[in-house]
Amino acid sequence: MSESADNSRPAGSEPPEASGHATMAPPARARPMTAAPPELGPAPVKMQTVGVSVYFGDQQVLNSVDLTVREHEVTAVIGPSGSGKSSLLRCLNRMNELMPTVRTEGRVLLDGEDIYSPEVDEALVRRRVGMVFQTPNPFPLTVFDNVAYGPRRHGVRDRAQLEEIVEKSLHSAALWDEIVEGNALYRSALGLSGGQQQRLCIARVLAVEPEVILMDEPASALDPISTYHIEELMLRLRETYTIVLVTRNMFQASRVADTTGVLIGGELIEYGSTQRIFERPLDKRTDDYIRGRIG
Ligand SMILES: Nc1ncnc2c1ncn2[C@@H]1O[C@H](COP(=O)(O)OP(=O)(O)OP(=O)(O)O)[C@@H](O)[C@H]1O
Ligand SMILES: [Mg+2]
Repeated sequence: MSESADNSRPAGSEPPEASGHATMAPPARARPMTAAPPELGPAPVKMQTVGVSVYFGDQQVLNSVDLTVREHEVTAVIGPSGSGKSSLLRCLNRMNELMPTVRTEGRVLLDGEDIYSPEVDEALVRRRVGMVFQTPNPFPLTVFDNVAYGPRRHGVRDRAQLEEIVEKSLHSAALWDEIVEGNALYRSALGLSGGQQQRLCIARVLAVEPEVILMDEPASALDPISTYHIEELMLRLRETYTIVLVTRNMFQASRVADTTGVLIGGELIEYGSTQRIFERPLDKRTDDYIRGRIG
């Protein structure tokens, strides 16, 4: 971040000490917490990466990334293929750790608390910060059992309660009416269209009541109408949740994201209001990328 406006730091979020812990090495130097660019008004910060670097073996794929995710916003991360977008997203719910040889440095704060600190329960982090993947990946189960899967794992056994959760989650994912119309609740989820499967995957995440939803190119495998449904859904979900969206679709980022970060070569080269990033990028590489000259 080249610009800083300390006055926009949210109340109560003081710069973190450069103290490490068991699973995370301390940052090389004390860093000020990323301040919001001047064009962004005040908003509560839901998540924040502070000097996050990620390595796969010897290969560094993220370099000291400071990303701020504001509550009840859609934050887009854009950038060329291989720039580290998915790796950054996976830092936000500790999913990188599921891969061998990965090493993460820096801090990832959720409501100001470092999700990598040893006392934090990984499973709880992934419940609070859910993830939707590029390719819809429903389980080979009924629609009902897909949505009920998470709540059951978390101990919900009461049938009426499960029914209520499933209906509410499918409603929130804008899929309930289609499921009822198609009489599909107790049929295999694999029989749904790709767009319906992706909304089912969103319903599955919503069923465990997350606070943040990470979406990694959630519409890139879908046709234009299904893409439109997913984009509309993101705008609606933002009222209740906080969304981080990785996309290579510039139109999608400009349509749904409040705030956008540009990741190139593992570095967050720009971060600001989506409109400003698209209309007046500060970094020439952003301009080149948006105009299709990179990646
Ligand atoms: N599991 C892994 N093991 C080793 N290297 C990896 C792994 N996952 C990603 N990488 C490397 O990390 C770098 C960043 O990859 P990442 O998938 O985060 O990029 P991306 O911006 O999401 O790309 P795309 O737009 O193609 O999805 C790439 O060089 C990639 O080869
Ligand atoms: Mg990716």
